[in-house]
Amino acid sequence: MMISVILISLVLFLLSAQFLNMQWKSRGFPPGPTPFPIIGSIWWINFRADHQSLKKLAKTYGNICTLWLGHRPMMVLYGFQAVKNGLTNNSEDVSGRLQTYIFNKLADGKGILVSNGLIWKQQRHFGFGTLRKLGMGNKGMERGIQTEARYLVEFFRDKEGEAVDPSFPIVHAVSNVICAVVFGHRFSLEDKTFHQLIEAFDYIVAFGNSRFYYMCEMFPWFAEHLPGPLKKARFSRDFVCSFVRQEIKSHREKGRRDEPEDFIDFYLKQLEKTKNVPNSTFDEDNMLQSVFDLFLGGSETTATTLRWALLYMLVYPDIQDKVQKELDAVLSPSHLICYEDRKKLPYTNAVVHEILRFSSIVLITIPREAVKDTTVLGYHVPKGTLIMANVDSALFDPDYWETPHQFNPGHFLDKGGNFVTREAFLAFSAGHRACPGETMAKMELFIMFCSLLQKFKFTLPEGVKEINTDFVFGSTMKPHPYKLCAVLR
Ligand code: HEM
Repeated sequence: MMISVILISLVLFLLSAQFLNMQWKSRGFPPGPTPFPIIGSIWWINFRADHQSLKKLAKTYGNICTLWLGHRPMMVLYGFQAVKNGLTNNSEDVSGRLQTYIFNKLADGKGILVSNGLIWKQQRHFGFGTLRKLGMGNKGMERGIQTEARYLVEFFRDKEGEAVDPSFPIVHAVSNVICAVVFGHRFSLEDKTFHQLIEAFDYIVAFGNSRFYYMCEMFPWFAEHLPGPLKKARFSRDFVCSFVRQEIKSHREKGRRDEPEDFIDFYLKQLEKTKNVPNSTFDEDNMLQSVFDLFLGGSETTATTLRWALLYMLVYPDIQDKVQKELDAVLSPSHLICYEDRKKLPYTNAVVHEILRFSSIVLITIPREAVKDTTVLGYHVPKGTLIMANVDSALFDPDYWETPHQFNPGHFLDKGGNFVTREAFLAFSAGHRACPGETMAKMELFIMFCSLLQKFKFTLPEGVKEINTDFVFGSTMKPHPYKLCAVLR
């Protein structure tokens, strides 16, 4: 009895001391809800970083505020100015990625997406350089995208106007572009392994930014010992990794290092070149994780945006009509769409950008971490502080967009109807960690969108009057499943 009383008093004393310590530490940080020991202040947003809770947070505490993820302070940036300046003013200082229990379980500090320091620098530089060598932004990759666009057109043509859910064929086309780049081959629509791969990536993406994710970060012991989402996420990751290992093995056997044809070939060549270089981070684990990251970063995001693209064409038939009129006026019906065509198609290009803005599929960037003591937006920020930028709030900032909550391609057109870029267009983020796949994503979206609209008029299935434009919340914001009819023009 006596021991229990002593123990309880000790725990209460430690918690109170911790509580006071946290209040003391939070003095130098931007305002925010009161942090408590163990749970921090993430309770205030109900353990979910969604649109409503982040908006409410900014309304209550301002565009620069602090949330505590357990015992770690996290600056939350809201609105174009805070997001842009916070990520770019001392860009290198805030270029770290947060290291957490889950990230370590899933990536072990390797690859590009959640790595840091020398590993991140070398892997990102190499990954980006190799994508360029493989044709990102030029003819090489363009051909791959055109091939997938053709298969996608064939898929819809075979349906002969029947109502169909476009999700899987779109995921298939977009993922095949990255498969061709990374593995050097594509998969057929019926391939069982391909379906399993997509399912595994889908699960990992849905797990990130979920309530379970935050719970697992805060209570790792429970996450480790209870069956549930973390186990399934790890199982999904292991499935992808064993597939990639198999691919690496078959690339080794083919031995194409002298004439590399895909990302894995280039990486194997790099391993050979750097084998005696001190401090080199090129090894098989980083190769595997980089492949994983390119696939994760490059398929689900672009496919989700293309699903929104077709959904918006159903919701705004007048905009679909205007795109088709422009395509018909500028290109012959048999013209093979290429990325260069965007210069002759300003309205269509504006529509593609408005789709990226309005669908705003990435609500927040994966949190950054200050790699040294620095200043962010006038606040002294100690090394290790987390920074979460709300990209969505820049894409809908009423001070920078004329009609932020309307789907309006005019946002990207000047008075003369010419295409214009906009500074608040931060769909691919900003600063040292901005998306390295921006050009590739825009190229894919433009070519696939135009190829489809050139051939088909997209309509709602007979009897369907309305379509749900709300999103399904996750790491990316996806549309609810829907069906459409692709009628040959
Ligand atoms: C519509 C399509 C896409 C969108 C909206 C998008 C958006 C983003 C955003 C917001 C980030 C986070 C940047 C930050 O932390 O500040 C990111 C990172 C990243 N993206 Fe994309 N992305 C897209 C397509 C792609 C493609 C096609 C690839 C590659 C083939 C790619 C590869 C990556 C990688 C590797 C990172 C991590 C970069 C790093 O941590 O250094 N993304 N993307």
